[in-house]
Amino acid sequence: MELTLPATATPATEIQRVCIGSTSWRGDSFIGAAVTWLLQFAARATDRVVLQRFVRFRLRPATVASVPQDIRLTPITAEVIEQLRRHPDAAQANFASGLAFWNMGVRNGFIWMENGEPLCFQWQLTDSDLAALRRHSSWGNLYPPLGPGMAQREKLWTFSGARRKGIASRFAAAMLAEARRQGVTTLVTHVSADNVPALALVEKSGWTRSGSIVRYEFDIPLFRWLRWSVALHCENRGVRSQHQSTKLSANGFIEEAVS
Ligand SMILES: CC(C)(COP(=O)(O)OP(=O)(O)OC[C@H]1O[C@@H](n2cnc3c(N)ncnc32)[C@H](O)[C@@H]1OP(=O)(O)O)[C@@H](O)C(=O)NCCC(=O)NCCS
Repeated sequence: MELTLPATATPATEIQRVCIGSTSWRGDSFIGAAVTWLLQFAARATDRVVLQRFVRFRLRPATVASVPQDIRLTPITAEVIEQLRRHPDAAQANFASGLAFWNMGVRNGFIWMENGEPLCFQWQLTDSDLAALRRHSSWGNLYPPLGPGMAQREKLWTFSGARRKGIASRFAAAMLAEARRQGVTTLVTHVSADNVPALALVEKSGWTRSGSIVRYEFDIPLFRWLRWSVALHCENRGVRSQHQSTKLSANGFIEEAVS
């Protein structure tokens, strides 16, 4: 069976990074272009490929004014992780994968607790957290390095029983205040293209779409243990001009000029 692949880059987008494991190349470099070509050729030649698509978002915390005063964010510690592992939600794969980040060495995250009960949780990844994910996670190619002043939000979770009450929206606003306190000038995140609730929430919270990620995972008998995958990080044309102070460094990572 021949697969019809979605376009990886359209006239409106460009491939910014090509990521395999912990290594990545600029999309317009020789290796980046060659890997992209080989990838699309291989994907057409076999149906043993699974595609995952994500929408990339970007936000400058300084542009968001309202900050809820009544939310106390607790930093994630080993004790918090222990408590969360005993929570019934830990049986859900998405939340369990967020908790697993701790074992991989990720440290910067926050939780909103009320009367000892968790309401909402999220990681705010710095470059050292991202490096840990690239080393230890088979999804590490979703996390290329960012650059000075940038951080990445991941694994937002509102606990069962607390949903559709505005908890994530208020938590997200409090997290923006925390980002500003930490000196973060640009936040990025990505959301699975089929996660309708999360896409709605992120867009309501002031984030703008900046591009997409297409991840190709090859299911090759005898080589399954390799969990071989490639992620193409695409950026919408014009995103950098909308964000006047961002620029690409020589190695293609996004850099934020300190304003
Ligand atoms: C997505 C999630 C964090 C939303 O948390 P929440 O506390 O229920 O969100 P809020 O009550 O603040 O909702 C804010 C907006 O998000 C959207 N939204 C939230 N849940 C939704 C749902 N089930 N269906 C459609 N839209 C939804 C709505 O636009 C909502 O605004 P509205 O209530 O005025 O319509 C929660 O459903 C969750 O933890 N899901 C599982 C993990 C996940 O998908 N995380 C996101 C990873 S990026």
